[in-house]
Amino acid sequence: MEKNKTATLLLWGLLGVLVVTCAVLAPGTLSAYQALTVEQNATPTPTADNRNMLAITPDPNSTPTPTVMLLKIGTQGDEVQRLQERLKELGYYTGEVDGQYGQGTAQAVILFQNQHGISGDGVAGEQTRALVYAADAEIYVPTPEPSATPSVLSMGDDNGAVKAMQQRLKELGYLSGNVDGDFGAGTKAAVALFQEQNGLNSDGIAAEQTLSLLFSDAAKQAVATPTPDPNAMPILVNRTHTVDASYQAADLVKLKDYLSSDLVTVKGDDIQGNRTAADALTALFTGAKEAGITGWQISAGYRSLQYQQTLFDKQVAEYQSQGMSKAKAVSATSLTVAEPGASEHHTGLAFDITVADTTFKGTEQQKWLAKNCWNYGFIIRYQEDKEDITGFLAECWHIRYVGVTHSVAMRDQNLCLEEYLGEV
Ligand code: DAL
Ligand code: ZN
Repeated sequence: MEKNKTATLLLWGLLGVLVVTCAVLAPGTLSAYQALTVEQNATPTPTADNRNMLAITPDPNSTPTPTVMLLKIGTQGDEVQRLQERLKELGYYTGEVDGQYGQGTAQAVILFQNQHGISGDGVAGEQTRALVYAADAEIYVPTPEPSATPSVLSMGDDNGAVKAMQQRLKELGYLSGNVDGDFGAGTKAAVALFQEQNGLNSDGIAAEQTLSLLFSDAAKQAVATPTPDPNAMPILVNRTHTVDASYQAADLVKLKDYLSSDLVTVKGDDIQGNRTAADALTALFTGAKEAGITGWQISAGYRSLQYQQTLFDKQVAEYQSQGMSKAKAVSATSLTVAEPGASEHHTGLAFDITVADTTFKGTEQQKWLAKNCWNYGFIIRYQEDKEDITGFLAECWHIRYVGVTHSVAMRDQNLCLEEYLGEV
């Protein structure tokens, strides 16, 4: 019994201590809990209140329109205008700020790209435009003059001086090919065109005089459509502009002796051509060889009136032997063989270019000739889309020397000789 009483007293004591402890601690615990709850309610969720940080006021002067990613030839609008303004400010662009992305703008972009070590494709994508608008964009530094050595640059050279020359020819509009340091046929043609339009001997070799004029302020921009000098216009020979027996072809040379057999085979010992045209043939076939196109043959050059008569009569007889009447045979022949006096072959400036024992049309030689002869002063004289003007069926093999100023202009404007001379 005594034991039970003691235990009961002990329990009551413990209970008392517990009650006192709770009474002391409880108010603090409660206030801490309440404070925590208030703080949690007051703290915004992370997304609730950061709008001010993300809201950037757009600056129309420094934010490109996000929808236009690539600016290139043909693009128009405010972004193009802004690009032109900036390129002008930096000195790359000298044309009109008109929002039209044309050749001039592309050229300025190429200059900018080349100077900033990105490959110059003339398209203003994101990378180019980021550099254009960057605060540290470089102002235009014109191509420096090549060092004194080498002082003569010619076909086959491949070096930095050629690259600088190509860059300058491109700037002036003479070169449309790559600026790659490799002096090939295209570069030669560009040099020759520069020389021709700048009063120098047009040999396609860039010696000291050519180079110093090229890099000077006196170098003229290329004229794509030269104002024709009436005294130097190509001669027109056709059905309405015939030559007679008194006409003398000038300065004829025998092509077999005159042209290198490494470049071209001349079919027959007697084929002749005008000396200047023959020199252009050498340049043409050298350019072709450079491009890996060989196997050329010349089947025809200068023809006398008598010889043209023989050719004409032979074709008429051929048609008659197939059963055509004389009248029909003559009119069929006159679509492909000129009547004596009406053939350009009388001038010594026209040549038929072929590949031995092969139909010329469709050969790699024919395709190369169609594309490149213009750079050497020749035209494809009788083209399909001009048959109603020239009066002859198309001849992909017949080239006519007119000089590079005229051939390039005729190519660029897609004019046949009659149209070019205003004799339609
Ligand atoms: N085959 C061309 C047209 C000529 O005879 O001159
Ligand atoms: Zn011909």
